[in-house]
Amino acid sequence: MVEIIPSILAADFARLAGEIARVEPVISMLHVDVMDGHFVPNLTVGPPVVKSLRKATKLALDVHLMITDADRFAPLFIEAGADLVSVHQEACPHLDRTLRMIRSEGARPGVVLNPSTPVSTLENVLDLVDFVLVMSVNPGFGGQQFIPRALDKIRALDIMRRENGLEFAIEIDGGVTADNTAAIVRAGCEWLVAGVTVFRAPDPAARVEQLKQIARESCAIRV
Ligand code: DX5
Ligand code: ZN
Repeated sequence: MVEIIPSILAADFARLAGEIARVEPVISMLHVDVMDGHFVPNLTVGPPVVKSLRKATKLALDVHLMITDADRFAPLFIEAGADLVSVHQEACPHLDRTLRMIRSEGARPGVVLNPSTPVSTLENVLDLVDFVLVMSVNPGFGGQQFIPRALDKIRALDIMRRENGLEFAIEIDGGVTADNTAAIVRAGCEWLVAGVTVFRAPDPAARVEQLKQIARESCAIRV
């Protein structure tokens, strides 16, 4: 089942609850980008914002940590209400421990790969995660152009998943549009994060429905 997951990075931060309300009826997950100005060259939100979001919506909160110290901050985001927490392979020297910690703190763990990091680096943690997030832009900013090599990584992960009898979801993040949604879904991806494409559309809910429709048609082709 394909999920379109709007990223609030492209929403109006002064009116977050209103922005979310516009898409809430047509989605089940919301993507929250956390940046620390160290791992990526940008700063965004911390646990207080997740806590406020938790009160404003029942949607599952998919918190993408682009930070150097995930071990210190992940528990705070989970306490604030994060349902899914993903950490970067590149930022976690003790990735196995970090992923186990996220699950033991009560959230669903995910691992993220920058565009330059090969999927082979995840061989020893795939059984620990509920999802793998493939970055299709270099993390730090919304509205960047999709890097097509991400499709090869999705295909490779889909094969690794089947060969090992695992059930993690494959998520993509960065530059998702109506033009590349079909290729992404056909490559084997189920969760599509979309920022600018959704929140800068005249009718964000209609844009989500459009992406879902494209995804449904692509799934049919894939089978
Ligand atoms: C980038 C973030 C993305 C971003 C995607 O570092 O991780 O989640 O919001 O934005 P779009 O869909 O606009 O490329
Ligand atoms: Zn993200």
